[in-house]
Amino acid sequence: MNSEPDYHNADLKFSGTGIPSGKIIWRSPSNIALVKYWGKKPVQIPQNPSVSFTLRKSYSETEVSYSPATSGKPEMEFYFDGQRNRQFEAKTAKFFDSLSRIFPFVNQLKFVIRSKNTFPHSAGIASSASGMSVLALVLCDMERQFFGTLQKEDAFHRKASTIARLGSGSACRSVYGGLVIWGETDGVPGTSDYYGFPVNEGIHEIFAGYQDAILLVDAGEKKVSSRVGHGLMNSNPFAAARFSEARNNLAKLLQAMRAGDTETFIRITESEALTLHAMMMTSQPYFLLIKPNTLQIIERIFAFREKTGLPVSFTLDAGPNVHLLYPEAIRNEVKRFIDNDLLPFLSPKGYIEDEIGKGPEKIL
Ligand code: PMV
Repeated sequence: MNSEPDYHNADLKFSGTGIPSGKIIWRSPSNIALVKYWGKKPVQIPQNPSVSFTLRKSYSETEVSYSPATSGKPEMEFYFDGQRNRQFEAKTAKFFDSLSRIFPFVNQLKFVIRSKNTFPHSAGIASSASGMSVLALVLCDMERQFFGTLQKEDAFHRKASTIARLGSGSACRSVYGGLVIWGETDGVPGTSDYYGFPVNEGIHEIFAGYQDAILLVDAGEKKVSSRVGHGLMNSNPFAAARFSEARNNLAKLLQAMRAGDTETFIRITESEALTLHAMMMTSQPYFLLIKPNTLQIIERIFAFREKTGLPVSFTLDAGPNVHLLYPEAIRNEVKRFIDNDLLPFLSPKGYIEDEIGKGPEKIL
């Protein structure tokens, strides 16, 4: 078992007069888990390994302007979609504060953060994944620019992934493109409970350009946060069985993805989605995040697959929206299916045609 990297470094601070001003912009995508992380131990250690596709079009773009601060703590203004957002501001300030032994320079800076997402936030499209990973990338980029550390891409990404995990578990997978495992996994050297690890090598080409149409059933705020949901797994009577099943599913899914076996891929991803929601329904207090239209859509996906034999499947995040997964080669057929059969069950926001992406990008 590998141990948590120790990133505490008291040297990463500016000398009294040398506090810089400037601006950094990064884009970081969301990701969709195929085997789900649901349940954790302190500090942000998953109870089971998970694996996700990093998305391409669903991302956060975050501009961070920095200048000398005076209070000895990270100072912050946070604007989301151009509006000051006190909730995100408090959350980000707390996150930066918690990192002050890893990046002591945050205590010397005032941050003005302007962030936007290409997708609705807090609707079970992992906005915390893109939002937290982008901040982790910016902080590591600042460290690299100011202190000359993290020059090697591997070291840069590993630290960014570790920091992203501390902000939101699933965010650690967004630091990499393609298929990413988070959590120590038997038979996959390099995987860790502390950071994400890309596993694209050896994956069958059918999965390389995989598509994800995100069907927005309800783009509103969700009622139960994933933090609360994870916590309820501590007393869920089915938790131990779930954690061991996730391990089995991950091993089988990887094998299927190497072999190009879409049938097993479908069986496992759909079962994972339903199990995630079953865990919510069997927690105390129990809660439901799916909506009647979520089930309407799932029924139609089953029927479409039965009728056409095409390898379309669904997964769900912690919300009512349905992620429709399919190979690139059947894009036209699937688009027709969505437009003809599924539109009545979608919110006015419709759907986002996303696909597997290459990971974050530095803009400035
Ligand atoms: O990263 P968190 O704490 O928001 O948890 C995310 C949990 C799921 O999105 C439901 C599953 C996953 O693995 O991404």
